[in-house]
Amino acid sequence: MPTTARTVLFHEIGGPEVLAIEDVAVPDLAPGQVTVRVEALGLNRAEALFRSGTYYYQPALPASRLGYEASGVVEAIGEGVTELAIGDPVMTGPGIEMSAQGVYAERVVLPETAVVRRPASVDAVTGAAAWLTYTTAYGALLETAGLKPGDHVLITGASSGVGTAAIQVARRIGAIPLVTTRTEEKRRQLLDLGAAEVIVTGESAPEAVAKEVRRLTGGNGAEVIFDAIGGPGFRPLAEGLAQGGSVVVYGWLDPRPAEIPWTWPFTIHTYANLTLTTTPGGRRRSTAFLNAGLADGGFRPVVGEVFDGLDRIQDAHRLMESNRHTGKIVVRV
Ligand SMILES: NC(=O)c1ccc[n+]([C@@H]2O[C@H](COP(=O)([O-])OP(=O)(O)OC[C@H]3O[C@@H](n4cnc5c(N)ncnc54)[C@H](OP(=O)(O)O)[C@@H]3O)[C@@H](O)[C@H]2O)c1
Repeated sequence: MPTTARTVLFHEIGGPEVLAIEDVAVPDLAPGQVTVRVEALGLNRAEALFRSGTYYYQPALPASRLGYEASGVVEAIGEGVTELAIGDPVMTGPGIEMSAQGVYAERVVLPETAVVRRPASVDAVTGAAAWLTYTTAYGALLETAGLKPGDHVLITGASSGVGTAAIQVARRIGAIPLVTTRTEEKRRQLLDLGAAEVIVTGESAPEAVAKEVRRLTGGNGAEVIFDAIGGPGFRPLAEGLAQGGSVVVYGWLDPRPAEIPWTWPFTIHTYANLTLTTTPGGRRRSTAFLNAGLADGGFRPVVGEVFDGLDRIQDAHRLMESNRHTGKIVVRV
């Protein structure tokens, strides 16, 4: 097995241009670790935030690695590894610390607990677009908000990787996804993915979104709001919530302060996928839900664009910064 792997590193905070590809030694396997030969990487907004120093933890510089999500094949296993075998198709995800363990590389060594099996029918590109988005939607909507069949759920920024997965997760249990995007051109794609209604926000005020949600729900409001935007629009948005409903906040795409809405009673949850998926039970439940949907075709991860080769990583990050994509940006390694 090769002793070095081409790996994406960055030595300073900055834009896509700080990403460099260098040869990095592949460490010897410690007990409980596996080596994954990476076939494809799935980009997340988290990585753009981490690279620019605005994520919830800071990179260890210089020579920080990057990336949560990859799919590939187990190439070697350390002592005591019981759940995985050489040759298994896998996805990475739970509990990765990006500076030390980032997966943007040809090979990566991870604890067995940070790797989950990928159904054999799921190709590497699709696998790279699946784990983080669907487990986040599952954990936030089903385990945290308790979304039920027949409920309306308002999904903001729905063209995102997580948003597109959330539409499918809601549909899978018989809930009704109402979604927002700022971009008229994404309306058709979101309807094709299963959105019941698409509200194009453009320059319109968040009050208008809440009013539209009330109209679409016969005045009741949505039982759940799933929001990754936050900012000043958060308070008026919650006026679209049904009495006693739940808002799950899982991101801050608008980094400006948000006010607590006054339309009580309701519950605000904050959601961190790490908290669910690093527990053995949470990892088992979320992965079982994902793999059932992947295996029976109910989940169709949305791959917005595929770049060929690790050398395209800067271009892939530039596309993410442009917000032109729908679903996941994938780099084939
Ligand atoms: N809490 C967790 O455990 C967890 C897990 C995964 C992801 N996340 C968070 O989820 C969010 C989405 O991540 P992702 O990787 O799925 O995103 P993504 O694929 O990069 O997509 C984000 C989309 O949101 C919209 N958007 C971007 N900036 C916006 C703004 N300022 N205001 C309104 N809409 C905006 C854009 O769509 P339009 O232009 O069409 O509106 C954009 O395409 C991020 O904040 C990420 O950190 C959290």
